[in-house]
Amino acid sequence: MSTQSPASQPPSAPTQQAIEAKRGAFSSRKVFIFAAIGSAVGLGNIWRFPMEAYENGGGAFILPYIIALLTAGIPFLLLDYVMGHRSRGSAPLAFARTHSKTEWLGWWQVGICFVIALYYAAILAWALRYTIFSTNKGWGDDPDAFFGGDFLQASDPAKGLSTEFVAGLLIPLVIVWIAVVLIMALGVQKGVGATSVIFIPVLVLAFLALVVRSLFLPGAGDGLNALFTPDWAALSDTGVWAAAYSQIFFSLSIGFGIMITYSSYVGRKTDMTGSGLVVGFANSSFELLCGIGVFSALGFMAQAQGVDISEVATGGPGLAFVAFPTIINEAPAGVVIGLLFFLSLILAGITSLVSILEVVISAIRDKFELSRLGATMAVCVPATVISIFFFSTKSALSVLDIVDNFINKFGILLVAVVSMVVLIWIVRALPDFVEHLNAHGSVPIRGWWPALIAVITPLALAFVLINDFTDTVKTKYGLPDTDYPDWMVGTFGWGVVAAVIISGVVASLVKWRPETSLEIPVAVDQTVEENR
Ligand code: ALA
Repeated sequence: MSTQSPASQPPSAPTQQAIEAKRGAFSSRKVFIFAAIGSAVGLGNIWRFPMEAYENGGGAFILPYIIALLTAGIPFLLLDYVMGHRSRGSAPLAFARTHSKTEWLGWWQVGICFVIALYYAAILAWALRYTIFSTNKGWGDDPDAFFGGDFLQASDPAKGLSTEFVAGLLIPLVIVWIAVVLIMALGVQKGVGATSVIFIPVLVLAFLALVVRSLFLPGAGDGLNALFTPDWAALSDTGVWAAAYSQIFFSLSIGFGIMITYSSYVGRKTDMTGSGLVVGFANSSFELLCGIGVFSALGFMAQAQGVDISEVATGGPGLAFVAFPTIINEAPAGVVIGLLFFLSLILAGITSLVSILEVVISAIRDKFELSRLGATMAVCVPATVISIFFFSTKSALSVLDIVDNFINKFGILLVAVVSMVVLIWIVRALPDFVEHLNAHGSVPIRGWWPALIAVITPLALAFVLINDFTDTVKTKYGLPDTDYPDWMVGTFGWGVVAAVIISGVVASLVKWRPETSLEIPVAVDQTVEENR
């Protein structure tokens, strides 16, 4: 597969050392693996997986989940790795270096990350506030009423978009953005890498402590039974399979440029295939642990309230900001549970948010040859302003709910299918990818990976997309819980999905700086990274 260069005097292919000096790099394979796990382990694991598993067949969900991990998750993770590692660039540069006509796909991913970062930061801000509330049960006796009322001061979506700011949302959101800007400005190793190396072990310890505490609560066994009792009939429901594939994509941080970006910062001789397996299985193991911790706690809540588990089982904001505060109110040593839970949410969330922002910062740096600080400010200042505007007003929850649902379904999964088809069937880059992975990995890439990534994974994702699309069109999004006005779903749902695609195409029309080579970099200095 040939690579493209500008017609007039193309700069020669850069060397590995030159690239590292310019863009930054992880200091070792260990840092890369921590960063990749830090990105993967996030809200998707803690508040999304347990409920997805419970609603989609319980113990039986593990089967489609593992099949999705093996047939799409790990194969796509390796595709992301080979794109970044071979091309040594941010998502748009990696696509451009693979074939100049595909650059827009990288910008599409950048757009998705920018949008996700806006609301992901808001969720972390809420978790920050709730960490403080958990010290004195600041949500009072009725956490449900407190969350929507005193805390969010949520306005009725039917009355339109609110421009009234809520100080209790705004202040923690500003704090989160300041913390994130500081991390991002420190660079790839000292900021992004070091954050995960420190936060991930603390997260694992905190969450293990939470799981142990929850397992000893009365009713924990009922919660685990509810989660793990298999409903085998669910396996014939296409929606269950769609849920498993969606969960794997969001949770593994694949398909939105993160793993392309991270693998572009890894030493040339790093074992990429082996690293992929470590990251994939570490993420799923943590996900399972989250299911156990969350459902033990929910089992306690159901028993304490004398209701069935189905009445208290919930995911997303309802789990973190309503169910857990209720558990904390009722459980012995509830403050400890509260601190461990919200600390885990923040640690897991920060390392994921950092990875999401790195996609955008790295892309802007590559395209405009900006300094690290310059690119960080160019991305984070507008992101902070937009994030504050939409997610610290009384409409925060409605906007967040709609954007999150649409960008996951019709952003991440759609760009993943389109990029597989373009890279493999149109640009025909697969032989180069296989060669690169075989040269940079301990796990041989023979017939299985090409077969999965060229046929099985795109077909599986196309099926999920069709399933999601039909569902969304047939049933009005939001019902039966919330009756969002059509303009709101149109703007923050379909509108945002279309906007990221259009902005991706527009960004790809901007010319690269003359000094940027669109050649695949040469590995003349491989020994430099030996044994990392
Ligand atoms: N993978 C990240 C999460 O699970 C984005 O939240």
